[in-house]
Amino acid sequence: MCGIVGYIGKRDAVEVVLDSLKRLEYRGYDSAGIAVIADGKLKVIKTKGKIRDLENALKGFDVKANVAIGHTRWATHGKPTDVNAHPHVCGGIAVVHNGIIENYVELKNELVSKGYSFESQTDTEVIACLIRDCYKGSLFDAVQEASRRLVGSFAIAAICENEPDTIVGYKKESPLVLGVGDGEYILASDIPAILPYTNRIIPLEDGDCVFITSEGFDVFNNGEKAKRDILTVSWSPVLAEKTGYKHFMQKEIFEQPRAIADTIQGIYSFEENRFYLVSSGFEEKLKEINRIVAVACGTSYHACLVAKYWLEKYAEIPVEVDIASEFRYRDAVIDEKTLAVFVSQSGETADTLAALKLSKEKGALTLAVCNVMGSSIAREAHEVIYTHAGPEIGVASTKAFTTQMAVLYSLSLYMGSIRGNLEEKDVASRFAEFIKIPRLTEEALELDEELLSLAMKYLDKKDFLYLGRYVSYPIALEGALKLKEISYIHAEGYPAGEMKHGPIALIDKEMPVVVVAPVDRVYEKVKGNIEEVKARDGIVIAFTTSGNKELEGKCDHVFYLPEVGEELSPFVYVIPLQLFAYHVAERKGLDVDQPRNLAKAVTVE
Ligand code: G6P
Repeated sequence: MCGIVGYIGKRDAVEVVLDSLKRLEYRGYDSAGIAVIADGKLKVIKTKGKIRDLENALKGFDVKANVAIGHTRWATHGKPTDVNAHPHVCGGIAVVHNGIIENYVELKNELVSKGYSFESQTDTEVIACLIRDCYKGSLFDAVQEASRRLVGSFAIAAICENEPDTIVGYKKESPLVLGVGDGEYILASDIPAILPYTNRIIPLEDGDCVFITSEGFDVFNNGEKAKRDILTVSWSPVLAEKTGYKHFMQKEIFEQPRAIADTIQGIYSFEENRFYLVSSGFEEKLKEINRIVAVACGTSYHACLVAKYWLEKYAEIPVEVDIASEFRYRDAVIDEKTLAVFVSQSGETADTLAALKLSKEKGALTLAVCNVMGSSIAREAHEVIYTHAGPEIGVASTKAFTTQMAVLYSLSLYMGSIRGNLEEKDVASRFAEFIKIPRLTEEALELDEELLSLAMKYLDKKDFLYLGRYVSYPIALEGALKLKEISYIHAEGYPAGEMKHGPIALIDKEMPVVVVAPVDRVYEKVKGNIEEVKARDGIVIAFTTSGNKELEGKCDHVFYLPEVGEELSPFVYVIPLQLFAYHVAERKGLDVDQPRNLAKAVTVE
C-alpha cells in the first residue's frame, strides 16, 4: 500500500530518502522513484522494480539536494511500469501518494477538458495535476484546496520547483508521520523510516496538512492551525536492521523470546498482585460488558482466534471473532455492553480501522492491541495496549503474532480477575507459568537445524494440510498461512476434527500433513486423526510434547517441544511452523521478506 518519504534538512536528501525507502520497502516493492529540487530544477528518477533498481537508475545522475520526496509502490491503479511509478509530476509540482483516489476518473475528465494531459494509468497523476490547477503561488494553499476535492484515502507529499525549500504533506486515512529532528524534518508512512534520524515523531491526524521548510513546520487542520504533541519513540534504530541474519523474517522469529518478555514486562506485579494493563476509568467500563467481539485481518485474526479460548475460559463472556472485511459489512449486533477488540500490528489496516469506527458508532467500548505507537487504530480506540515487538519488517508476521497473543492472554487473566472469576492466588500462579514462555520459545528455536532438513526434503511438494484442535487449531491456520505466503505452496489449515468432512479426500502418499499435537485435553482425538491420515498413506509431520514417544511409530517425522501448560502451547508450537515456512521459502530461493503480491500494511480496502 506504498511507502512515501519526504526529507528536508542539512543532509544529502537523496541518500536519506533512499535509505528511508529501503525501510519502507515492506509496504510495496514493484516500482520506486524519487524527486528532488536541485539548482532550482525539479528532477525525477523512477523505475519499475525494487529500491536497488532505483539505486542503479540513480547511478550517473549527480543529484545533490537538501529537499527530496520518494516512493515505493504496491500497484493499485495501473501495472508496475516506469511510467506508473511515482513521483508524478505536473507543471513543476511532484507528488508521491499512498492510498486510493476514488473519484479520479471524474477529476481526470475535468482536468483533460481544461487542457491537462496524462501519461500514466494511475490515480496519483490526477493529484499532481489537481494541485497544479489549484496553484496560485503557494504549494500549501494548493494542496489544501486540492485535498478538499479528493475522495478516498490518501497520504501525500508534494514539492514544487517554485518553492525549493518546502515540502507539503497531507493525511487522510492513510498513515503519515512527521519526524522532528535537529534542523531537519522527515515525513514518512511509518516510523522505521524515520528512526535513524530522530526518535521524536508526530503521527499526523486525518485532515492534517503539514507545511515544512528547513526552518520549521506548521500543522493545519480544516484551515486552522493545529497543535500536535511530539512523541518520543523508544524503538532503537538497530531493531530495524538485519543484524547478521539473512532476512528480517528470520531475525524476527529469533527475536520472539525477547519481544514476548518485553511485552509481558510491567503488565502484572507479583508484589502488589495487580495488573497494569488499562486505565482505571476503562477498567470500570470493562466491568459492565457482557460480550466481546475480536476483529482483525491476517495473522492478527489468528491471534484473536486463540484469544477466544482464553477469554471464554477466564472472563466467562461469550466471544465472537471476525475478519474485519466481513465484520464491517454484516449487520453485527453491537451495543454499549460490547467490548470490541481490534488487533493490528501496523495499526493502519483499512478494514480493521473501518470496523473500529463502525463499532464506536454503535456504542461499543473499544480496545486496540497495536504494535505501532500513535497509529490510526491505536488513536481511534477508547484504549490501547501496545505489544512491544519492536518494528516488524518482514511481510510475514511472526513476532507481532506472539506478542499479540501475550497481550491477549494477559487481558484474559485480567478480565477473569476483575470479574471475580479468578482469585489473587490463581492469577499469580498462572502468571508464574506465563513468564516461563520466553524461555520455552527459546528452546523451541533450537529445532531450527532439524527444520531446515525437513524443509529441504519437502520443498517440492505442491500442497500441505495443517491440522490442530482446541488452541492448536488457530496455530494450524497460522502455520499454513506462513507457508503459503512466503513459499507459494498451497497450504490449508483445518480443525483436525473437521478433516473427515472434506480434506480427507485430498490425502494420498504425496500429501504432507502437519499435525500440531501437544499432549493436552484433545491429544487422544488428534492421535485418532493421525491414524486416519496414515491409513490413507499421507505423510505425517507431527509436533508434540517432549517425552511423548508414542507417535514415533505412527508418523513420518516427530518433533519435540518443551512441556508447557496446555492453554499456553500456541506460543511454543507456532515457532517451528514459522521456521519451517522460512526454510522452505529460503531454500526455494524466494524473496522471503517481500513475497510477491503482498504488502505489510494493507491500507486500502
Ligand atoms: C497483511 C500482512 C500480514 C498481517 C495483515 C494484518 O496481510 O501481510 O502479515 O497479518 O496484513 O495486518 P495488521 O497490521 O493489521 O496486523
